[in-house]
Amino acid sequence: MSDGAAAPVLLRGGLLIGPDGAEPGDLLLAEGVIAAVGAAATQRVSSGSVVEVVDVGGRYVLPGGVDPHVHLDSVFRGRRTADDFASGANGAVAGGTTSLLDFCFPAPGELLTDAVLRWRDRVVAQDPLARLGCHLVLVEPTDAVLDQLAECVELGVRSLKLYLAYPGRNMSTDGALLRTLQRAAALDLTVLVHAENGPAIEVLIGQALAGGHREPAWHALTRPAELEAEAVHRACVLAELAGAKLHVVHVSGAAALQVVVDARRRGVRVTAETCPHYLLLDSGTLAGTAHQAAGFVCSPPTRDAADQDRLWAGLRAHEIAFVASDHCPFLLHRDKVMGDDFTQILNGMPGVEQRIMLLHHFGVRTGRLTLPDLVRLTSTAAADLFDLPGGRLEVGAPADVLVFDPDRELTLSAATQHCAVDYLPYEGITVRGAVESVYLAGELVVSGGHPVTRAGTSPARLLHLSRFELQETSR
Ligand code: URP
Ligand code: ZN
Repeated sequence: MSDGAAAPVLLRGGLLIGPDGAEPGDLLLAEGVIAAVGAAATQRVSSGSVVEVVDVGGRYVLPGGVDPHVHLDSVFRGRRTADDFASGANGAVAGGTTSLLDFCFPAPGELLTDAVLRWRDRVVAQDPLARLGCHLVLVEPTDAVLDQLAECVELGVRSLKLYLAYPGRNMSTDGALLRTLQRAAALDLTVLVHAENGPAIEVLIGQALAGGHREPAWHALTRPAELEAEAVHRACVLAELAGAKLHVVHVSGAAALQVVVDARRRGVRVTAETCPHYLLLDSGTLAGTAHQAAGFVCSPPTRDAADQDRLWAGLRAHEIAFVASDHCPFLLHRDKVMGDDFTQILNGMPGVEQRIMLLHHFGVRTGRLTLPDLVRLTSTAAADLFDLPGGRLEVGAPADVLVFDPDRELTLSAATQHCAVDYLPYEGITVRGAVESVYLAGELVVSGGHPVTRAGTSPARLLHLSRFELQETSR
């Protein structure tokens, strides 16, 4: 790791944007951190200590993006994601995101600490060009397994994830969720839930298949918004009982969001995220054959225009904490379709590289969001929730910085993206406003919208798991 090795850089004359406002000014990056902001940065040039001055006039300068929901180098139902840590991180930084939270899935019977260290070793071996951390996935933990959580906290783990969907695969019972929430409350961990009522969805799927309905549109019809809202409600009640911090991932519908809003009003410590696809795509994408629709299949499914409007309003009103990508990239032309009915299409879609540009184009340019909203929703709020460094342009913060050209046009395409996946749900959309350059720990890692070829290791690899780095040498 070469944190701090980059020469000082002054970004001159940009619009510095934070979660609370925007103002023109200079930004000094030195020794891997933001060394000075505004007039203090300008003054440092005359002292002769600044090696390089970069004119960023007319550009936005933002804290590097934080995407706390990506699936990289992961296997679901026997198929591996198209992006590993290296290619996923290349796409992430090309899209202005410098910090990622992935998921660590312990093998059956594996010690949780071993699973976390094994995840860490895979990341380090791939040397990704972004900071990586993970949420720890639990399914049906015994008390003895939950006893291991304190040691995971020592390693730097801050959050757990449980699924209320996918019976027979990852689904947890309500009892497991409650016991996990109780332990999490004692250890100040946040518990993420994938909130859909798995057993009820299984009933609807069985009835649909028995009725001869095999088309992808039935993916959405068998996962109705009511069963998302019900699972969110159940998780909120259990979190309330346990006094735990709950975070609902990928909220797709108005009904589920309303449950979160109501729970927060009565004091439940619950937050929510949504994703670009729930803001921009609807259930019409599932019309047609499996091969036409497969790229748009995710769970919960994309819904309708009224849901989208409610989610946009929720972003503005701080009811939704942030926008994550849920980047879950399977090769469309090889892996996504595994059989001839809708249950045989792998869930998930890509988006880590496009998240900030989509939110800028469809949010800020349309007036639905302000520039500070953009920073809050793509960086600050996730950094705060998961106790990560960054998320603000302030002295001492990591020099993870995005320089964004609000006028550059970019046509989104699988052919030109930097992720390894072979399709894009946003194929052919031209956004106005695109990533120009990105600094990671003060080192230029993206120039002209493309990751730079570098010698040596990534300037920063592990997030809030810095103790992992120490253990790397002592194990
Ligand atoms: O469809 C989605 N949301 N992703 C697939 C993997 C997961 O965690 O559900
Ligand atoms: Zn996911």
